[in-house]
Amino acid sequence: MNVLDRTPVQPTSSDARVPVFVPYVGVDTLKHLTDALDVGWLGMGATTKEFEERIAAYLGLEGRYVVCTNTGTSALHIALLAAGVGPGDQVITPSFNYVADHQAIRATGAEVVMCDIRDDDLGLDVASAESQIGPRTKAIVPLHFAGIPCRIADVYALARRHGLRVVEDACHAFGSTAGGAKIGTDGDVQFFSFDPVKVITSIDGGCVVTPHREEVERLHRLRLLGVDKDTTLRYQNKRAWDYDVVSEGFRYHLTNIMASVGVSQIKRADEFIASRRAVCERYSEAFDGIPGVRVLRRSYADVSPFIYSLRIEDGRREALIAHLDARGVDTGIHFVPVHRHTFFASARRAPLPVTERVVDEVVTLPLHSLMPARSIERVIDGVASFFA
Ligand SMILES: Cc1ncc(COP(=O)(O)O)c(C=O)c1O
Repeated sequence: MNVLDRTPVQPTSSDARVPVFVPYVGVDTLKHLTDALDVGWLGMGATTKEFEERIAAYLGLEGRYVVCTNTGTSALHIALLAAGVGPGDQVITPSFNYVADHQAIRATGAEVVMCDIRDDDLGLDVASAESQIGPRTKAIVPLHFAGIPCRIADVYALARRHGLRVVEDACHAFGSTAGGAKIGTDGDVQFFSFDPVKVITSIDGGCVVTPHREEVERLHRLRLLGVDKDTTLRYQNKRAWDYDVVSEGFRYHLTNIMASVGVSQIKRADEFIASRRAVCERYSEAFDGIPGVRVLRRSYADVSPFIYSLRIEDGRREALIAHLDARGVDTGIHFVPVHRHTFFASARRAPLPVTERVVDEVVTLPLHSLMPARSIERVIDGVASFFA
């Protein structure tokens, strides 16, 4: 049987468990993959360029540039390097974030400085970040947690006061809007992730979005071993043999094959996002008002939800997790705060009272694109029966 004739496997709730993540991979993705394989140019090429163009079109970018990479982590690494961040500098980001950012900051040679978050949207706390700004501070990396826009205008006001570069971690927020515009359409630099569990995936992948035309070429070189002029030819599925190497650089490019998966997914982004929004609003409607439970949002109209996060007060989170587990409902925890990890335990940081409280409350419930109704009901019944 041809691979395209088979029905793709979508593990769902009719199986024993409801997983936290289920990547949606349909026949359309398989078709894009086999077409890309047939071209015979597996590395970075015309499909990488097409994915970049589709990202720009989807976000509605004007005067801004997309540079795809092999992960969101590498996107941040080269975005910081292009901004001139390096040894002796400091970069501020919340401890309540994925460790990818802290590692990418360290990889530039700069020092990570961690700040606290706000209790309402779990985004960066500007006063806490400001308390850590000194002469060596170069950049600030705020996070749009779970796809929920953080108070980005306040972050930009802070950055302007101190002359800092803002690199927005939009890895959870592809398609979210802030102030009526999609995240990525204005401001300084953003980076996205298309890793296996994100709203759209390219298996692994990421991109930088920048308004700084003069930095694009540098991003291209950093992405591919410091080679000059390679991007233009590779985007035609060709290679230059008279190349020069003019800077440091890494193997961070996105291949045609991965990009083909990204292209297949971005075509369905609106459908995926709408379905996820509906699930989040259904969850919030069911859980809001339960004593001891805090929902992050009732409306998800401006959110492209990557995960659905709930806060469980009064130290009952672990019992809820066990209760759901016994009913076949998996849960996750976003995040273990980075300052609690061994390698970052002695990193510079502000007092983190909100982070310390929140990380013992948050639990991530299953959320999938095109999630079957029976899975949604199992999650809701599981939570409701715990608090009944
Ligand atoms: C908040 C955040 N930042 C950065 C990353 C890194 O992205 P990637 O996995 O594509 O390297 C992730 C990935 O999960 C993330 O959740």
